[in-house]
Amino acid sequence: MKSYSIALIPGDGIGSDVTAAAWTVLETVAGNFGFALTGTEFPWSCKFFKDTGRMMPQDGIETLRGFDAILLGAVGWPAEVPDSVSLHGLLLPIRKAFVQYANIRPHRLLPGVTGPLRAENFDILCIRENTEGEYSGAGGRVHQGTLDEVAVETSIFTRAGVERILRFGFEQARARRGKLASVTKSNAQKYSMVFWDEITRKLAADYPDIEVTSYHVDALAARMIMAPESLDVVVASNLFGDILTDIGAAIQGGLGYAASANINPGRSAPSMFEPVHGSAPDIAHLGIANPIAAIWSGAMMLDHLGEKAAADRVIKGVEAATARGIGTIPGKDRTEAITAAVVAALT
Ligand code: IPM
Ligand code: MN
Repeated sequence: MKSYSIALIPGDGIGSDVTAAAWTVLETVAGNFGFALTGTEFPWSCKFFKDTGRMMPQDGIETLRGFDAILLGAVGWPAEVPDSVSLHGLLLPIRKAFVQYANIRPHRLLPGVTGPLRAENFDILCIRENTEGEYSGAGGRVHQGTLDEVAVETSIFTRAGVERILRFGFEQARARRGKLASVTKSNAQKYSMVFWDEITRKLAADYPDIEVTSYHVDALAARMIMAPESLDVVVASNLFGDILTDIGAAIQGGLGYAASANINPGRSAPSMFEPVHGSAPDIAHLGIANPIAAIWSGAMMLDHLGEKAAADRVIKGVEAATARGIGTIPGKDRTEAITAAVVAALT
């Protein structure tokens, strides 16, 4: 029997609630489809930081490297550890170290879910550059705490980094409806973003079948709200993609439905799958977190592992549950009830 080794990092807050739910669904579907998932749980989190002074052990990255994939819940407990410390100690280093340069986030309404827009028939796939750009971490502060203080944070865009994410976007568009929106702010940022636009035009020659349009990020943000049906694949830099995918989450009914995959397309290291919502400290461990984003992320993991039929089955299960109104009204159904409804719909 085929078997996949999965590193489970529930992390903080509702991360453990939703990871447990997703795991239940994944184990069930694995059983039904005749493959095995073996999960190894790592307690890396802000609690781990309080105990050890680190978000993960020094050899954490090397430990994870041997797994087929990573399923992560959420990172952050700002009351105890500043987000800038916790995220740079766990989530962001994994994305970079494992060259998970493509962050994929689907935005569409599940059946039974009411979004805030009149539009209902949108199906957008956001591809966010995930290893460089505005998140490069290049910068510093001098004269700290004085009136002369200076803070510098430099975005880094490399030809290799921009080319590979754009190619990934073109390929995704080819596998979908053939439309690519490439997002920059090249009217204001005249080096990096003009560079991105140039590379978009250059690669377009390799993909004559794809209808590619360059948008400025402000206009694209408005378009996601005013005309989301007009979009297919959207490709953007790290920060722009971060912001646009929160809009994507909002128009699909909320963060409870927003799934994501941090993909290493070359498969030189494991990819990581995580819901977009954070740790939500206010509802942690109350049993009311919506596990759908985590379950959907788990389906994306199965797809990446080559178990597409099982992945599709999980999505169908989620859709069957939401079509019956389960998990569609914030706070109405408990995490366990939503999970049970998805599991029941798997067979
Ligand atoms: C996300 C999150 C992270 C990001 C934070 C927590 C660092 O907002 O995955 O969208 O900005 O990448
Ligand atoms: Mn975000």
